[in-house]
Amino acid sequence: MPRHLLNPMDFSVEELDKLMDLAGDIERNPDKYAHACDRKILATCFYEPSTRTRLSFESAMYHLGGHVLGFSSANSSSAAKGESVSDTIRMIGCYADICAMRHPKEGAPLVASEKAEIPVINAGDGGHQHPTQTLTDLLTIRSTKGHLDHQTIGLCGDLKFGRTVHSLIEALSRYEGMHFVLISPPELRVPEYITDLLKEKNIPFEEVISLDEAMPQLDILYMTRVQRERFFNEEDYIRMKDFYILNNDKMALAKEDMIVMHPLPRVNEIALEVDSDPRALYFKQAQYGMYIRMALILTLLEVEV
Ligand code: NCD
Repeated sequence: MPRHLLNPMDFSVEELDKLMDLAGDIERNPDKYAHACDRKILATCFYEPSTRTRLSFESAMYHLGGHVLGFSSANSSSAAKGESVSDTIRMIGCYADICAMRHPKEGAPLVASEKAEIPVINAGDGGHQHPTQTLTDLLTIRSTKGHLDHQTIGLCGDLKFGRTVHSLIEALSRYEGMHFVLISPPELRVPEYITDLLKEKNIPFEEVISLDEAMPQLDILYMTRVQRERFFNEEDYIRMKDFYILNNDKMALAKEDMIVMHPLPRVNEIALEVDSDPRALYFKQAQYGMYIRMALILTLLEVEV
């Protein structure tokens, strides 16, 4: 049976460490891996828009010497004719060795994996999970802070629909000494299954509205955009969209070694003036995304280098 990545918890903490070590080695010695996936094919099946995730997967496969095929919208696939993801993945298994799938419906990559003869990677399923963004985020934190445990992390913005937040909280809940500050308007609080998980594990967390008040205690600030596409009506989105705007005044309240992360794309929630602050890591974070996806492809295809 192929191994899939549907949720960040599919990998143990030890396996995640190995994956991040591999990503680090790839970054330092790219030539060593340049032919690791010669003649292998990655299918990117994206039923929802994406820039970073799809391109970083594709770039990852090219850097490993492999090839890429796929589609970047549901309209340009047979989904437009009514084909199910289960049928699509069986067919893709005839053409590719591994598949990264993004879908607007929660659980679609899981359904696909049940029929798949090749590894399936969840590249984002609706408002649910985004495990490869989490791998990227973990690598970013580990590379800058030196460790993943004992961090006070503020997650700010759309915590209800932001799938990257759900995956990251789950993944970080396995490390010692974590403290979560969940910063959102009341309408966009994290789903209950996430707070239940934190309660079950006795992990300290607060749900607050004020970013200013939270700022001084944070080691990491994880900003997110309000997920327009998941709102039922536009008025609610308009009311929420500029609720938080991180600017230099707010950055002045933060620790000198706090880091700002964002899965991107940004809309208005981080003012452009913050980009030149050395604590702003979001573009570097996007770069880590390629190395960790290279490591993931090698691991799921069981390629030894
Ligand atoms: C995120 C996503 O798709 O959930 N983007 C990404 O993959 N880097 C975040 C977002 O779209 O807001």
